[in-house]
Formats: sequence, C-alpha cells, structure tokens
Amino acid sequence: MSPTVQRPDLGGPFPEHIAIIMDGNGRWATERGMPRIFGHREGVRSVREVTTECARMGVKSLTLYAFSEENWKRPGQEVTYLMRLLRVFMRRERKTLMKNGVRLRCIGRLDRLPAASLDALRETEALTADNDGMLLRLALSYGSRAEMADAVRRMAEEARAGTLDPASIDEETLRAYLYDPTTPDPDLVIRTAGEMRVSNFLLWQLSYAELYVTPFCWPDFRRDQLLGAMKEFASRRRKFGGLEQEDIPAASTESVEETT
Ligand code: FPP
Repeated sequence: MSPTVQRPDLGGPFPEHIAIIMDGNGRWATERGMPRIFGHREGVRSVREVTTECARMGVKSLTLYAFSEENWKRPGQEVTYLMRLLRVFMRRERKTLMKNGVRLRCIGRLDRLPAASLDALRETEALTADNDGMLLRLALSYGSRAEMADAVRRMAEEARAGTLDPASIDEETLRAYLYDPTTPDPDLVIRTAGEMRVSNFLLWQLSYAELYVTPFCWPDFRRDQLLGAMKEFASRRRKFGGLEQEDIPAASTESVEETT
C-alpha cells in the first residue's frame, strides 16, 4: 500500500509525469574544492528527497536521467564510482521505496551495466513490481537515438520475418517498440545546472513536454526547488499545437471568406 498522497495546490494543472536531467554534480563539487565524485554522492541525497516528495505529492511517474550512453566516455574511475553508487543506492533504498509504494523500472541499454549493478537493479525492480504508488524510472546507459535505433531494428527484423506489415507502421507502432511504451509521456522536464539542452533524453517522448531549466546544481535541487518547478508548470498554457477556446476568434471562417 502506498502512503497517503497529499497533492499540493499548484494553482493550475498538476504534472502527472516529471522527467529530470540531473546535471551539475561535478560543478557543485568543484566549486567547493572537492573531487567530482563528492557531487555525485551528494546528488544521491537529492535523488532520495525528490523521489520521496514526488511519491508523497501523488506524481504518477518520475523519470531520472541517471547515466547516459555518452557518460561511458568519462574517466574509468568516475564511471566505476557511479556504478558502485547505483548498486549501493539500490540496496539501501529498497525499504524506503517499499514504504512509499514506489515501483522501480529501468530503461536504457542495460546489458552494458556491470553485472553487480544490474543484479541490484533487477532485484529492486522485482521487489517493487507490485507496489501501487509512483513509478520511478531510471534512465541508465540511456540515449534517445539509441532507443529509436533499437526500436527500428526490431521493427525491421519483424518486417523481414513477416510479422509486421511495413504499410501499417504509424506513430503508435513506433512508440510500441520503445523501451517503455506503456508509461504516458512526461508533462514536465526539468534540467538542473542551467544548460539549455535536452542531451539525447527522451526525444520522442518529450515532444509536448514543458521545459524548465534551473540554475541550481542537482545536489542543491530539493523539495522547494521541485515545488517551484511544479508551480511554474501549473502556470503554463499547453496547447499541443492547437488553440485554446478563448483564442479562437468568433466567426473566423466568415472573415477568411470575406478576404478571399
Ligand atoms: C550529471 O552531473 C550527473 C550525472 C552524470 C550522474 C547522475 C548521478 C547521480 C545523481 C547519482 C547516482 C544516481 C542514482 C540514481 C543513485 P555532471 O557530472 O555531468 O556535472 P557537471 O556537468 O557539473 O560536470
């Protein structure tokens, strides 16, 4: 059972799915004269607080960009540290995830992860699979172009085998071959540490997400900063390429006819 959910009054729509590009761990540490790994260690505290707060506030899905395909290019020591942090986090946080009713799901080219980290992730996924609260998705060894390439390869294989008709392929078909097709797209994507980029993160799924970039580095992104982002989201007008009723001019077709 998930704990009682207390949705805050944001004064507008609530973001059901939040995705976060957790950036700035290295800068946070360097600014304090410490090695980069201290930033990652402190970043884990933000992961814990943001996950717990989102679960309590009734966010349905939270996706965290924890390790990109490109991050494998970092110095071996940093990669090893991050993989260890992940393993330790998975084992230590199980109790809290269970208490908060959180389900864990990982997306990415997970076969590239070290066996011990992958085992810890799989065990936690299995343990939390029946929880009925928030879905926590960790994007690991994740790249959006890789996700799309993987999807297209599988579709091509099925087309060759005769189980997929190329003429029937539409947007929903492609979506069905992505890593986690059943989770609705993010409403809000937050990026910490100020960079105005999406860095190969959920390129398909972010098509209509609201972007929010904050100068706070990830280790400083906690409950107040999260609420600030959610309130900003609530104040946005989402039109999904259309118009809101109040923006449609009265008798608009007549005025077009008059001028033609
Ligand atoms: C970006 O900061 C952060 C990462 C590449 C890793 C994120 C990892 C964590 C928050 C900790 C482990 C996660 C879990 C889920 C246990 P950066 O190093 O790119 O910062 P910089 O841009 O300032 O160098």
